[in-house]
Amino acid sequence: MIDQRALPHTFEIFRAETSDEIAFAIKDMVVRGAPSIGAAAAYGVAISIINAEPLDQATNKILQTRPTAGDLFFAVRNVSEMIEAGMDPDMAANQYVDTIVEQCRAIGEVGAELIPDGGNVLTHCNAGALATVDHGTALAPIRAAAEAGKELFGFVDETRPRLQGTRLTAWELANEEIPHAIIADSAAGYYISRGEVDLVIVGADRICENGDFANKIGTYTKAVLAKTHEIPFYVAAPASTFDFDLKSGADIPIEERDPKEVLFVGEYRLAPEGAEALNPSFDVTPASLVTGIITDKGIISPDEIDPDELRMY
Ligand code: MRU
Repeated sequence: MIDQRALPHTFEIFRAETSDEIAFAIKDMVVRGAPSIGAAAAYGVAISIINAEPLDQATNKILQTRPTAGDLFFAVRNVSEMIEAGMDPDMAANQYVDTIVEQCRAIGEVGAELIPDGGNVLTHCNAGALATVDHGTALAPIRAAAEAGKELFGFVDETRPRLQGTRLTAWELANEEIPHAIIADSAAGYYISRGEVDLVIVGADRICENGDFANKIGTYTKAVLAKTHEIPFYVAAPASTFDFDLKSGADIPIEERDPKEVLFVGEYRLAPEGAEALNPSFDVTPASLVTGIITDKGIISPDEIDPDELRMY
């Protein structure tokens, strides 16, 4: 897998050959973004069987890495079921990943129609190819619209504290020569209030039955801004991110990460010695602030979520 900790300055491949190494890669954010985490977990299950590791131990280790990303739990369950049904482990993991990649491609096609020619789109965190194996969720429509020849501009939230916007989204957009600018997270209100943003598109880590969803910390603020200034706010996700066992956002476990991520930038300590920090990694945006959910099957409103429609296979 691409080591996302090293980007954008170094392109390195991280090799994981045991379920322990997969669990480490997910926890340490070598791989990140809910669908990519799910893909890594899918291969983790396959690897543990191929290596004849004790399966329960391996899956438990993988499941304990990141509590908010719904795809992690979905992937482990899904791939385990396929293997139990007699499929080869590597085929099961490949089929899982091919399915989410195809869904992300379709999300791009569906979502591109929302972006007007000359449009300005704001996105938060990184919901691009890095986060989904290919295409992206929030970035897929931006990519597809640009490929279709539309002129567009991306406002990229820097996304403190891990800076996924600055490091990863800007890297993806620069690679594809899509015009964009990184903005401080606190600058989004400035641009939105001036009418310079036409729409917001974000990804999701987990979407509940009622349409409430968790995404990178700071997403909720963007949804409130969009509502206040009457611009559309879309969330894009493959089926693996929906969790129909959760009734509402209050049920989503929110990952708390090391306060060091806030106190430091990389190895450099910004905060004075003795200062403390809080570091929730995700927040919950209520369905009432969501204009629509971009899925591979079309754009639906939160009250149209239908488990039968969104089944993976
Ligand atoms: O902590 P991260 O970088 O894994 O968080 C990622 C996000 O919040 C993404 O927006 C989300 O997983 C959707 S990715 C298609």
